[in-house]
Amino acid sequence: MHDTIAVIDFGGQYAHLIATKIRLRGVRAEIRQPEDPIEAFAGYRGIVISGSPSLASHGEDSDYTKEIFDLDIPILGFCFGHQQIAQYYGGEVVHGGREWGKADLHVTVGHPLFRGLDPVERVWMSHYDSVVSVGPDFEEIGYSFTGNGSEHRFAAIGSDKFRRYGFQFHPEVDDTIHGDDMIANFVFEICGCAKSWSMDGFMDEEILRIQEQVGSGSVFLLASGGVDSTVAAVLLGKALGSERLHLLHIDNGLMRLNESADVLQMFTEIGLDRNLHFVDASDTFLDALADAVGPEEKRRIIGDTFVQVFQNEGERLGIEHHLLGQGTIYPDTIETGGTKRADTIKTHHNRVPIIEEMLADGKVIEPLADLYKVEVRELGARMGIDREALWRHPFPGPGLGVRLLCSTGAQDTEDFDSIVPQVEALAATFGLEGLVLPIRSVGVKADLRAYEHPVLLSGDVPWDDLIAAVSAITAQVPGINRCVWNLGASHPTTAVAVPGYVTRLRLHLLREADALVMQALRRHGLYDEVWQCPTVLVPLNLQGTEGETIVLRPVRSARAMTATPVELPAEVVAELRTGILALEGIGGLTLDVTSKPPGTIEWE
Ligand code: XMP
Repeated sequence: MHDTIAVIDFGGQYAHLIATKIRLRGVRAEIRQPEDPIEAFAGYRGIVISGSPSLASHGEDSDYTKEIFDLDIPILGFCFGHQQIAQYYGGEVVHGGREWGKADLHVTVGHPLFRGLDPVERVWMSHYDSVVSVGPDFEEIGYSFTGNGSEHRFAAIGSDKFRRYGFQFHPEVDDTIHGDDMIANFVFEICGCAKSWSMDGFMDEEILRIQEQVGSGSVFLLASGGVDSTVAAVLLGKALGSERLHLLHIDNGLMRLNESADVLQMFTEIGLDRNLHFVDASDTFLDALADAVGPEEKRRIIGDTFVQVFQNEGERLGIEHHLLGQGTIYPDTIETGGTKRADTIKTHHNRVPIIEEMLADGKVIEPLADLYKVEVRELGARMGIDREALWRHPFPGPGLGVRLLCSTGAQDTEDFDSIVPQVEALAATFGLEGLVLPIRSVGVKADLRAYEHPVLLSGDVPWDDLIAAVSAITAQVPGINRCVWNLGASHPTTAVAVPGYVTRLRLHLLREADALVMQALRRHGLYDEVWQCPTVLVPLNLQGTEGETIVLRPVRSARAMTATPVELPAEVVAELRTGILALEGIGGLTLDVTSKPPGTIEWE
């Protein structure tokens, strides 16, 4: 019998990650729904309540199995879960005190939850609501300071009498530096669990599961050549043998320079070329996208076209009855709002409605659907896939399609009267000039999609001040979810949206800029240090320039659910400035300096 922890999934972006983190420490964890009957919670050694897109201050999502609080089992809540515990035991939660990103937690040293940790710990916040008082028998066991210097009480609370605890921050994300230790302290010190789960068993169990699902049939896998589809292909090949696995690589016209040729060669090198098929469908994709402007509209068109091309190819090859294989990983599902309560941050290409229908009909197989990128890489390494293929930067299924922002040329300035003065004043306190841009990009705030304006910051200030300015602006000004830093020579004081659609010309321009960035990262030994570096083409004319604007988005991350911006060395910036601004059609160059949240890694 395994000692097991239940993780109640209230739809927070990181709920599943909590279970993963517990399993990595060798203890079994299972996801449960808030309305599961009380009997379902009986056998657990502990319960964790996740974050949520709902607001505890407004009583949202308060209709769940509250009898869990009558059980003699330790309970720990994160963010929304923390607020639920505070409220249930007589504390107060208000709408306010919001924080995004990094904060310093000052802990009550000696509490078992913080055993082995420092008096001040770096933690990660993403919330609109806050706990402002706790009930009898509860105490504050930590308070926090955010980047802009404000103090937040009750960032960690607890009652040793009831064995109920809450953290306002998210210990499950990697940016809470010792979050894993805090979770482990709960699991071992408070719940008294013994270790019995191992990652070693996962591969064998998954192979058996694949054999069971596929039976005597075969799989037709969409193989982009990214890490996920490559690991999925090798795992399926192991389970089924190469005769029963067909791979289809589609050139959707949204690939990087020489990408398709490189991908086909890689599959040949790893010995999966027996049934390797290729189709150049760029005309189909680009025709379908010709008039599209909105991010979700583009994502749906790309996802639907993938299915259409896949079905046509299946028929042409006479294998249309095979199961559709996909290298979907967990963040694809959660960001698409694919669990019961999660908000749709963005529709991933492998989660469009047609695919959801096929999934419901049992026509899809996704062997990596419960994993995050780090686990996928670990599994790939266990199966002997070489480092070069495993450590390629992640590249989204919709490819450059979500890095080529589109616009009709209309200026999106409706809410500028209230936003602009606030941004300018705040930027000035950090010695920067702030220009709100008349376009929008996708972000994520407190587990909800945020489609808001970026701010262009100009000025020569130290990196830490720049990051503090971003944290202050995105936290204090509603309607702003990211900031970019001007890398051009002059300080633009105007920015004008210009018409821009998905065209071969714009894709060519983006491809050239992207290739310059990738080459520079490799040449300067930064490719491995930077987790991913989207290059984004934005249809904006900055003052005094002709042509559109390029945004560089280098980030550090591990699981893609959170990310921090990377400071590029001055010589790399200088080199990219020369190369990119020399491209005909490019007038501006900026660096995205936003963490996730409130920005996402990609702009759409
Ligand atoms: P965001 O932009 O949500 O991205 O912070 C998180 C990670 O997911 C990748 N991404 C995608 N991958 N299909 C994919 O296979 C998609 O539709 C998609 N959209 C984003 C993104 O590149 C990053 O690594």
